[in-house]
Parts: sequence; C-alpha cells; structure tokens
Amino acid sequence: MWDARFNTPDYVFGKAPAAFLVDHAEWLKPGKRGLAVADGEGRNSVFMAERGVETVAMDSSPNAIAKARALAAERSVSVEHHAASILDYDWQEAGFDIVAAIFIQFLAPAERDLVFARMIATLKPGGVLLLHGYTPNQIGFATGGPRAVENLYTEALLRNAFGELEIVELKSYERHLDEGDGHSGRSALIDLVARKPV
Ligand SMILES: C[S@@+](CC[C@H](N)C(=O)[O-])C[C@H]1O[C@@H](n2cnc3c(N)ncnc32)[C@H](O)[C@@H]1O
Repeated sequence: MWDARFNTPDYVFGKAPAAFLVDHAEWLKPGKRGLAVADGEGRNSVFMAERGVETVAMDSSPNAIAKARALAAERSVSVEHHAASILDYDWQEAGFDIVAAIFIQFLAPAERDLVFARMIATLKPGGVLLLHGYTPNQIGFATGGPRAVENLYTEALLRNAFGELEIVELKSYERHLDEGDGHSGRSALIDLVARKPV
C-alpha cells in the first residue's frame, strides 16, 4: 500500500521536514548519531543530516527510499538508508543519540508495543526520543493519518509506554499542517521528547 502511494514523482509529504522536527532542532547536533524510523521519502533524515547528525534512515518502501536517496543527493548530505520492515529491522542495541519517530502510526497496538521497546533499546544512555503523531481527535479532522483510532496516541498511552524514559516534553495540541498532500490542514497532534536515563 505504502510503496504504491509513493510511486509518483511528487513527494507525498513534501521535501521540508516535519514542523515538529524543526521545532525541536536544538536536539540535532553535529557528532550525534540519529535514526529516522519509517522515514519515508527522506524529508526528516535529510534535515537531521543537514544539522550535522550522522543519520541512518529505515523504511519498508523501496519507492520511498529511492526518493529519500535522491533528496539526500539533491541536498548534498549523506544518509545511510535501510530497506526493512520495522518488525524485521536489525535494531542496534544502544546505537543512537537520537531516535526520530515521526508519523509511524501504521502499527496496531501489539506491534506498536514491540517497536516502542526496540526504540528504547536502540537509544544510548542519555539518548533522546523525538516522537510525533496524531491523537484520536484527528479522526474528526480527516487531514491525514490512519483511520484506526487504536493506532493513535494519547498522552496517557505515551506516558505509560515510555515510563522508563525521562519525559522532557509531552503535549497534545491542534495545528495547521502543510506537509505535502499527505498531511494537509487542521490536525490533532501529539509530541513526545524523552531521554533515556544515563
Ligand atoms: C505517514 S508515512 C511517514 C513517513 C515519514 N516518517 C515522514 O514523516 O515523512 C509512514 C511511513 O511508514 C512506512 N511504513 C509503513 N509500514 C512500515 C513497516 N511495516 N515497516 C517500515 N516502514 C513502514 C511507509 O513506507 C511510510 O514511509
């Protein structure tokens, strides 16, 4: 489904990074190693690399990865790309200072729990998770994101799932998004910034 959606010359989510990542760019520093989870067409991994982060990106869609490679080349940055399903991906233990998980709400709760645990494990001690997605209120807006309400995040869900991390920021809010055709219009969003204890 996703690969077919990306089978177009257009960038479905645009070439500009997610507004959330721009808002939290202070975490993206040279010398840091970052993982962009289900990175799609590369808008977020390219931004991380442009900020000097040594960046690895993974996604299951070959069409998305081809576009992500083209975007990295266009911006003259280096990103290491991996084509893999999120469930089969070889998550490196304590490998990353930054994990960016932006609009990865394609997972049903059981699989999501597994992936959240892997994201925690792949953070180095002191590493930071930057997670962004939609809340259940997004169902009413219909401006992007999954239709399955159980895939969406609440503050309670994230606080519970990432209880072993130090929550730096957790907030839900509404904002107008203009991120390609994929995310366009008034949106019900949630941000989490959480640090793994040293
Ligand atoms: C809503 S898009 C977000 C892409 C990117 N994070 C962004 O913000 O532009 C969801 C992404 O998840 C990827 N995806 C869907 N199922 C996946 C899976 N099982 N394993 C890895 N990636 C998957 C899709 O290919 C797509 O790129």
